[in-house]
Amino acid sequence: MEKMAVIAGAAVMLFLSGVGAGCASVKSVIEWPEDPSMKPEMHREYPEPNEAKLIEEMVKIAVERMKPQDGRIRRGVHAKATGCVRGVFTVRADVPDDLRHGVFRQPNQSFQAIVRFSNSSETIDPDRKGAARGMAIKLLDVDGTPAIPGTASRCQDFLTVNHPVFPFATPAEYVKLFSIRETPLVGDPLAVVWLALFHLRHLKIGKDILGKVVTSPLDLTYWSGSPYWLGPPGTTGGRAVKYSLVPRSAGTPPGDPNRRSDDCLRQALERHLSTREAVFEFRVQPQVDPVAMPVEDVSIEWDEKVSPPIPVATLTIGVQDLDSPAGRALAEECEGMAFSPWNALTEHRPMGGMNRLRQAVYLASQAKRGARGQ
Ligand code: HEM
Repeated sequence: MEKMAVIAGAAVMLFLSGVGAGCASVKSVIEWPEDPSMKPEMHREYPEPNEAKLIEEMVKIAVERMKPQDGRIRRGVHAKATGCVRGVFTVRADVPDDLRHGVFRQPNQSFQAIVRFSNSSETIDPDRKGAARGMAIKLLDVDGTPAIPGTASRCQDFLTVNHPVFPFATPAEYVKLFSIRETPLVGDPLAVVWLALFHLRHLKIGKDILGKVVTSPLDLTYWSGSPYWLGPPGTTGGRAVKYSLVPRSAGTPPGDPNRRSDDCLRQALERHLSTREAVFEFRVQPQVDPVAMPVEDVSIEWDEKVSPPIPVATLTIGVQDLDSPAGRALAEECEGMAFSPWNALTEHRPMGGMNRLRQAVYLASQAKRGARGQ
């Protein structure tokens, strides 16, 4: 049985290796009626009627998949940190007036930040293994009204990975995939076959993510993938945006090219920050087309030529010693912290189905591993 599964998986991967890089036309899985009055509006969300049930199902699956690793229960995904560091997030003086909301409101304002770099896998693997690379940023001591009423959060988190799109479009697809993965013995290869049959473009995104060769977390561009509101509290007068971060400093000094150790990404981070700071430009990309730049399908890239990202802040990660007692203590503290797109001001409220799904799943993952509130 197991052998068959491996063969099926290998066949699909072989088939995929022949799928060319160019995707002729990228079409959302969400079909809107021809009638123009039924088209989506800009900066709006369109929840599926059965979403609550899907979320409940996904929470159950996500929590059951969390098993102890290296002596403790870790994050449901992004289990391995490749480093946790301190930084400073400074708002630019030239933020356009219509983007001056939430933490971008005050020109030149600086926030202390904690930044956790991670590999996206559920398990703790060698850094050589393919994965999305995460950068989770937590701004501290942020004043304002939290997106989730009643929470005492004083943080603004930004969660990003080194790819502009997510390999699954909607909560329905994500939950379906994970329920297939739960099939005893053949779950993972079966999921690959299902994707190859019904969502080949998404399987290709997954393959692109896993195939990236990465030498340092500080030399990557990161994207939020999912959209966020940017505007005054409420649902009018603002816009849907995505975020990205582009490295703007001299790259990481090269290590030994013949030695890609299990923790080579952490070592690259350590090598870089021991002598030079790292700087990222933080950018906002507004939605300018409700169909080509959907809110409810995170597998569709928002074309940066159509809506060029606008720099609004700078994240500076200063010189620091990850291996010092303070560096190690921060790494330990970070493992118990809770990063979430929903640790946000109401001006930065997460939007779209995947983000609505994430609210419950992150909370459940954080509760199961006993993470600190925010
Ligand atoms: C565009 C989409 C997404 C991005 C950019 C993203 C990014 C990230 C990052 C960077 C982390 C690590 C945070 C940390 O260092 O603590 C994380 C954690 C996590 N993600 Fe996502 N993610 C996305 C979508 C999803 C979805 C759709 C799910 C499942 C519904 C999910 C489930 C989780 C879980 C369970 C954690 C661990 C939560 C914890 O215990 O703290 N993510 N994500």
